Amino acid sequence: MIFRELNRGKCKTYLIGSEKEHVAVLVDPVREKLDRYLALLAYYGLKLDAAIDTHTHADHRTAAFDLKELTGANVIMHRKAPAPQVNVHVDDGDTIAVGDLNLKVLYTPGHTPDGMSLFIQGRVMTGDTLLIRGTGRCDFAGGDAGEQFDAITRKLFVLPDETFVYPAHDYRGNRRSTIGEEKLCNPRVTGRTREQYIDLMNNLGLPLPENIQECLQPNQSAMDDDRIRFPSLGELNQVRQLSPVQVRSLTEAWPAPIILDVREPEEYAGELGHIEGSILIPLKDLTSRAEELEEYKDKHVIAVCRAGVRSTTAAAILTGLGFEQVSNLKGGMLDWNTQKLPVEK
Ligand SMILES: [Fe+2]
Repeated sequence: MIFRELNRGKCKTYLIGSEKEHVAVLVDPVREKLDRYLALLAYYGLKLDAAIDTHTHADHRTAAFDLKELTGANVIMHRKAPAPQVNVHVDDGDTIAVGDLNLKVLYTPGHTPDGMSLFIQGRVMTGDTLLIRGTGRCDFAGGDAGEQFDAITRKLFVLPDETFVYPAHDYRGNRRSTIGEEKLCNPRVTGRTREQYIDLMNNLGLPLPENIQECLQPNQSAMDDDRIRFPSLGELNQVRQLSPVQVRSLTEAWPAPIILDVREPEEYAGELGHIEGSILIPLKDLTSRAEELEEYKDKHVIAVCRAGVRSTTAAAILTGLGFEQVSNLKGGMLDWNTQKLPVEK
């Protein structure tokens, strides 16, 4: 097995390759290093099977979508990942084959709802869930310190003590740790109860990363266009969130709200289905096609997508364009389906 970290920086990218079958995957590739990855794959004679992101990153642009476009590799993420470019969704307990090798998926949310860790041959890539002597922050949208504590203690700390830990970030020049060391010496987790951990994480008071929207929005949506002004975090936070059950009861009442689905056409026609009577305008086209919605400016418009992330952006954009009453379907079609509400396919 080839196992290498490729960036030598604060963001870590791992190459896992099968020498026997000449295939590889990249975990958490960073967009600025794209040329380096392609050169290295060519040097080793490895075909790229997949680019895998352990979660939706807020601090750098992913290279996964470019790798898909350039090499035909799959983009693999957890099923809760919002981005439409993801073409293989995985969940806890799944395995990802890399030739004769197998990566095991551990669902480890908390830093983000779509966080996962990957285990292979005595090593675990922990994303931003467990860092070396630290843990990923939980104060971005969808973060949850309690879920993170559970993921760390029930999914990662149950691995053998000698398992090597390879995080997605390190800010102090560390390369790896072990589960045993982190159980004993992680200053955030060791000796803390779940409640104490939540209290600690919810009061870190960290500043937001610079350009968070410029990284997050392209990573979680199909938007990659310098002409689009992304809504600010303040605008996103003001979007009214409705549960699937609330949206369902509104659609059954009169006057029924306008349901605006902002996914890509393949997703609209895909496995999750769509809500009956919904209008489809992909998020990336929303600004240019907003006039099609002009007649609904004073109506209640509910934005819908896969995970409720892109549609929050859509709702903020529409509010900014003067739409009077816009809401978001919280948890998107994923949660709508979990609640077994009716879909059209
Ligand atoms: Fe992260």
